[in-house]
Amino acid sequence: MDARRLQYLDAMGIQVWERRATTRDEVRDTGSEEQQAPQAPKPETRNLKPALPNDVAALDWTALQQRVQTCTLCSELAASRTQTVFGVGDRQAQWLVIGEAPGADEDAQGEPFVGRAGQLLNAMLLAIGLKREQVYIANVLKCRPPNNRDPKADEAANCEPYLQRQIALIQPRLILVVGRIAAQNLLNTDTPIGKLRGRVHQYGGIPLVVTYHPAYLLRSPGEKRKAWDDLRLAVATLQQGAGA
Ligand code: URA
Repeated sequence: MDARRLQYLDAMGIQVWERRATTRDEVRDTGSEEQQAPQAPKPETRNLKPALPNDVAALDWTALQQRVQTCTLCSELAASRTQTVFGVGDRQAQWLVIGEAPGADEDAQGEPFVGRAGQLLNAMLLAIGLKREQVYIANVLKCRPPNNRDPKADEAANCEPYLQRQIALIQPRLILVVGRIAAQNLLNTDTPIGKLRGRVHQYGGIPLVVTYHPAYLLRSPGEKRKAWDDLRLAVATLQQGAGA
């Protein structure tokens, strides 16, 4: 591993020399993101719902962004947001990173993952050799839920066509989902994140890997090693796909 990669891992808070082969079994899951994972759960496969009776599926980037900016489907969110947070990055990226919803910083700046969690996300991406600009970053919700509450089911459902259209336009080779809420929404499951991470799921035929939310990793730095395992799984999945 080269010195620069080691620096990035250090920024993630991972000391490579401490790594042991048995880490995965030894570290128990704790914290609000998850309960402990039992063995060998089945990967989730999410087939995209049949097209909803709306025209979002036909919009180009400009029209989609405009539609999101003016969206009032969730009246509470539309009334409380400073602005919508559409997504950022390379629209032809191989990697699509999906988070939960904008927080206060994102709502103020109109860009996903710009706060402290965003800085750690950037470090996580750099650890696998990716600059932020090389991936596309979006959220399940395009509006900040007031007081950072969890997205409601109907809010996620209202916003889903926008994300689906972004996915269709980008055609990423891999989706990296950060956090329990985003993972459960995208995979349409209540399975705890400890069971969702560490394996490859499918979303509309695209490989999808789940890892912990960077905000959770900031609170629980001991879990960063598992996040590193997830990132390596994502890299290997994409490389395998390229060789197939
Ligand atoms: N957390 C998220 O899930 N998304 C953001 O954009 C910022 C914080």
